[in-house]
Amino acid sequence: MDLNELHGRYRPYQLFVLPCSGPLKPSVGMAKKSQATWGGRFSRSPADLMLTFSESVSFDYRLAPYDIAVSRAHSAMLRHVGLISQREMRAIHKGLNALEARIADGKFKWNPALEDVHMNIEQALTKIAPEAAKLHTARSRNDQVATDSRLFLKEASRKLIDLLHRLQRAILSIADSNQNISIPGYTHLQRAQPVSVAHHLLAYVEMFDRDINRYERVAEDANWCPLGSGALAGTTLPIDREFVARELGFIDKRGRARVTTNSMDAVADRDLFLDFGHACALSSIHISRIAEDIILWNSSEFGYVELPDAFCTGSSLMPQKKNPDSLELLRGKSGRIVGSLQALYTMVKGLPLTYNRDLQEDKVQTFEAFDQLELCLQVLEGTIGGVVFKKSNCSKAVADPALLATDLADWLVSEGVAFRDAHHVVGALVAKAEELNVNLNAVPDLEAKAIHPKLRGAWREVFDLQRALKNREGIGMPGPKQIRKQLNRWKKRYAD
Ligand code: ARG
Repeated sequence: MDLNELHGRYRPYQLFVLPCSGPLKPSVGMAKKSQATWGGRFSRSPADLMLTFSESVSFDYRLAPYDIAVSRAHSAMLRHVGLISQREMRAIHKGLNALEARIADGKFKWNPALEDVHMNIEQALTKIAPEAAKLHTARSRNDQVATDSRLFLKEASRKLIDLLHRLQRAILSIADSNQNISIPGYTHLQRAQPVSVAHHLLAYVEMFDRDINRYERVAEDANWCPLGSGALAGTTLPIDREFVARELGFIDKRGRARVTTNSMDAVADRDLFLDFGHACALSSIHISRIAEDIILWNSSEFGYVELPDAFCTGSSLMPQKKNPDSLELLRGKSGRIVGSLQALYTMVKGLPLTYNRDLQEDKVQTFEAFDQLELCLQVLEGTIGGVVFKKSNCSKAVADPALLATDLADWLVSEGVAFRDAHHVVGALVAKAEELNVNLNAVPDLEAKAIHPKLRGAWREVFDLQRALKNREGIGMPGPKQIRKQLNRWKKRYAD
């Protein structure tokens, strides 16, 4: 069968075509009068090509729950200040409830010709409740989308924090159960000094804890309500911004409303998206680093761990293969998430105040980063939970006395030798061991003494792994008591 025919038959990519896209018709514009909410000053509708190009409902439909909440609060405020009647507000709320249910059931038909989630909902609402023609009083899509987005970012941050908590618990559990296993710690990917597996894993607990702080900050900074900023210069109508803020939960710890304080900044600002994007990028980089560590540990060359079958795949050709695909994808996906941040930076750079349509692209990147990270955190949790350390391989790797060369230098210091001299002495001992092709602690007395007079007798006691670890009980070091202390501290922090 020829390839063209094959393509013609299967076209798998068609499966992924968005519902609102399709063959582009670059017509210059239809004769029909525009049906858009802004259609008043237009005599023609946008070209199909323009609609396809500019619609955002294919991705911003997921702001619908926030958009509805915002409309509920806004109409309650309009009623509160007397811009609409009680009856009108009730009709709007009833309509919003009905739409909310229809959207949640997946029965709402999104229309790309109506551009975005805001106009889709407003038009559908007006059909159910003609009173909704008053809903857009004293607001613009610019402050509306800024408000929806803040609500989304608050919730997205909370979700990622929850997932990070779960991941932390998974790492803590495996660190806890492998406290007694030691491996070489590496610098330059060269065996450097012994550490316990728990110490290595707790390094990631620190990183993910900092990530959690970052999302806490995003949620905190998102907690200012921009609604009422209008298109860019507020409104002449007598609105009550604090009322809306309270309705939507934009409040401080004492229940006081938090509203943004510059209408131009409020509609042009995308700092939060960048903060969130940065937090996601950094989490993905932490994920990528732990994935890489475990990939290395899993290789035959290291042989420190066995991975769970459920998160590995085989080779279609080589029957013996069990590949660490979940970890490789975690490492790879960081590229996407970092890319989203880069796209956001580039989008905002050089934009004049205030709102520009470029800003619509913020959601594509933010949703992408969030969705991928949400998956990555769960996959990492699942993979980590099934990692089994191979004790004997780890013991063999960590048994190399050369890993304790620095401990020997420290011992010489405790014997009164200056550290720089001690470093040279041990360096000479290492060279001698290599020359004689023996382990560092097996250089014969005669040769050792010739290098430094202190190197007789007691120096060999340094080469005891347990003793070496017990000598490192300072804060943040890999001594067993210190590790237990750190583990307990984290376990308390992440207790269910
Ligand atoms: N879909 C738009 C966005 O996400 C909403 C704001 C549109 N505002 C406007 N002036 N065209 O940015």
